[in-house]
Amino acid sequence: MERSRRVLVTGAGGFIGHHLVKRLKDEGYWVRGADIKLPEYGASAADEFELLDLRRWHNCLQAVRGVDEIYNLAANMGGIGFIHAHKAEIMHDNVLINIHMPEAARLNGISRYLYTSSACIYPGYKQNVPDVEPLKEEDAYPADPEDGYGWEKLFSERQCRHYWEEYGLETRVVRFHNIFGPLGTYDGGREKSPAAICRKVALAKDGDDIEVWGDGKQTRSYCYIDDCVEGIYRLMQSDHREPLNLGQDRMITIDELVDITSAIGGKRLNKVYDLSKPQGVRGRNSDNTRLREVLGWEPQISLEEGLRLTYEWIRGELEMSGKVVPEAQLIKEASLVREGQAAVAV
Ligand SMILES: NC(=O)c1ccc[n+]([C@@H]2O[C@H](COP(=O)([O-])OP(=O)(O)OC[C@H]3O[C@@H](n4cnc5c(N)ncnc54)[C@H](O)[C@@H]3O)[C@@H](O)[C@H]2O)c1
Repeated sequence: MERSRRVLVTGAGGFIGHHLVKRLKDEGYWVRGADIKLPEYGASAADEFELLDLRRWHNCLQAVRGVDEIYNLAANMGGIGFIHAHKAEIMHDNVLINIHMPEAARLNGISRYLYTSSACIYPGYKQNVPDVEPLKEEDAYPADPEDGYGWEKLFSERQCRHYWEEYGLETRVVRFHNIFGPLGTYDGGREKSPAAICRKVALAKDGDDIEVWGDGKQTRSYCYIDDCVEGIYRLMQSDHREPLNLGQDRMITIDELVDITSAIGGKRLNKVYDLSKPQGVRGRNSDNTRLREVLGWEPQISLEEGLRLTYEWIRGELEMSGKVVPEAQLIKEASLVREGQAAVAV
């Protein structure tokens, strides 16, 4: 059967949505982006971009008109600091978006609807030591998700399931595990750990202190944005209706994440731990067995390569805003110093 060529991406002004729109355009789709804000870094590749608050029912109806498929990414969210401090706001906003969107999809005869869930739906009792077992999809129950953000994600996953069972809406549910890369928020309070660490390393001078949230022993796995977009696209094409993990299965400590990033930045930094800051679960990793089975593929880009690309982008942004000295200038200054020393020696 000929697949649809008109899609809606909600959250298209955000990190993953912005990349996804570009990928869908490259695949030849006509794309409408919808978001409460425009993308922060560069114009959207969407054919049409509508500024809409999707907590409002009439805006959801407007967003879905005339499309065949929906990638629903819109969410009020951020890194661990943000989701700890804004539980009521997050649940309020995201429940509204994710109650309205499948209903608008159903009324509009949408053929496929993809919902972006999170590793935060997994129960705390499976993640209370750093050296955890990778989380399988069926580990989600008995439920004990991340308070606030995770409960809403689990609730909305179930709503997708019920829309399939009761109305035959073809739903896909992806559980992301720490997606990172260029064009993601890197300051202001909503940034995630890889972006925050890249920013701190870029701003630091060789030998400086670097603040680490928690004791640095907590573990995570990280997945680069290009792999994330590839996985979302493959899942939408698949017949898999159950939730699916999408992440890398290489687990590292936050200490290691800081060390790899410091090495990329060419700096030796002294880690200073702030135990008062939220650090989330003690350990988390993605089991990708089902991902490989269902998609016939798995994420390809190494953490080092992904971090290098992310670091370079964040450093470039900080250079442009005048917060760090451009690398070219540093090289020039260093060579002037060397020339001066050579002149004195002669
Ligand atoms: N980035 C990750 O590591 C990660 C991990 C797990 C799940 N997710 C999920 O993936 C999706 C995309 O995440 P992201 O990293 O791109 O986040 P993001 O914050 O960059 O993008 C989310 C977008 O949703 C928009 N939005 C918020 N409220 C809205 C509203 N009322 N109406 C319309 N748009 C609204 C925001 O303006 C933002 O542009 C989200 O659903 C998120 O919960 C992301």
